[in-house]
Amino acid sequence: MPAIDGAARLCSHLLARTPIFGMMVPPEGDRPLANSASTVYQEGDTSLDHPVEQRLTQLHATKPFLEVLAGHRQPVPPIWMMRQAGRYLPEYRELRAKAGGFLDLCFTPEYAAEVTLQPIRRFNFDAAIIFSDILVIPYALGRSVRFEAGEGPRLDPLDTPDKVATLSSQADMTKLEPVFEALRRVRRDLDPKIALIGFCGAPWTVATYMVAGQGTPDQAPARMMAYRHPDAFAKIIDVLVQNSIQYLIGQLKAGADVLQIFDTWAGVLPPREFLRWSVEPTSRIVEGVRAQVPDAKIIGFPRGAGALLPAYVGSTGVDAVSIDWTAEPALIRERVQNRVAIQGNLDPLALIAGGNALDRAIDDILANYAGGRLIFNLGHGIQPETPIAHVEQMIERVRAYMG
Ligand code: CP3
Repeated sequence: MPAIDGAARLCSHLLARTPIFGMMVPPEGDRPLANSASTVYQEGDTSLDHPVEQRLTQLHATKPFLEVLAGHRQPVPPIWMMRQAGRYLPEYRELRAKAGGFLDLCFTPEYAAEVTLQPIRRFNFDAAIIFSDILVIPYALGRSVRFEAGEGPRLDPLDTPDKVATLSSQADMTKLEPVFEALRRVRRDLDPKIALIGFCGAPWTVATYMVAGQGTPDQAPARMMAYRHPDAFAKIIDVLVQNSIQYLIGQLKAGADVLQIFDTWAGVLPPREFLRWSVEPTSRIVEGVRAQVPDAKIIGFPRGAGALLPAYVGSTGVDAVSIDWTAEPALIRERVQNRVAIQGNLDPLALIAGGNALDRAIDDILANYAGGRLIFNLGHGIQPETPIAHVEQMIERVRAYMG
């Protein structure tokens, strides 16, 4: 393809992602990314290659992200990053310091809405994810949840059947009202072409923190409890299923377009336990949400599920599955992407490394999956030490894709 055609095409792709909102002003000192073209385009301007195409895009304001979930592959894959609001951004660190505690940041709608929008302003992603945490459900269930600086979450361990017997079955949903209010605020301020994601943790992953009282490398305490006291463990899971359904429906009502269920620790389970503690509860959540919101769009993220991904997709009924960087491309294409959209799967360490290693890793993902329904993402959350310039490099390369 001649270089000039390539440039024109790239230009139209960038425009198709261009927010025209006053809020989309990049932080001072930063180069505007994909939205640079919007600053030169005026109504009636004929100097660009595809002004009509751009005008139509603005009129209909379809969300490329939701198009993929609805079954329509996009020539340029929509892109966002798990944990895109976080410590790699100086503006996040600033507001985090101002808010005091991490839960104060989550439960102050003005702040939570602001940190949700920070990565959108900087990078013009195709989706915003509401700023909160998976551990707000145990918090609303009355458990003690603290985030110690530099140490991660701390909860009161729920590690015996006697303690489980005291677990309340109904969360106080009014404690989660600030999350709903933050969603309403983001919805109001967000460009209509950008999707808004609500989320919860999968019951298994949330239970691993509730049982151990903290993160552990292999979730031995929860695995052990599930073997030794399956009835007590099943009670924790059931409570989480019921309350997660209510919480997710609340997020949809407050303005979320799509939901993601994070099962970060799915991969530590053997197949039988994976089906029982990850797949089955997630299926009940999907069913429970759709019983009240039949067209709810749901993405599952069973990290580390590997060869069990086809079973997860077949049983849960999710619309898309987020895959980690260890996924095997042929298996994904032939037994997962032929049924649902996929999201992923850049190694977050390649994003830290940058340079040629990053370009190669991005190109592999595009070559492997962009022929089908793909939402470009990381295979897990972005790490705090990631250079912002590498995030920009990633976005530019994905949006220059000539699919
Ligand atoms: O993606 C986003 O930008 C939205 C916000 C979000 C957070 N946590 C904010 C957060 C989301 C989607 C989560 C999900 C989450 N939380 C998961 C599943 C996804 C994953 O990354 O595995 C898990 C397992 C948790 C539990 C949790 N929260 C842990 C283990 C920690 C400590 C580790 C860490 O990353 O700091 C948190 C704290 C947390 N949640 C932070 C953020 C931005 C850092 C807190 C801080 O600013 O000090």
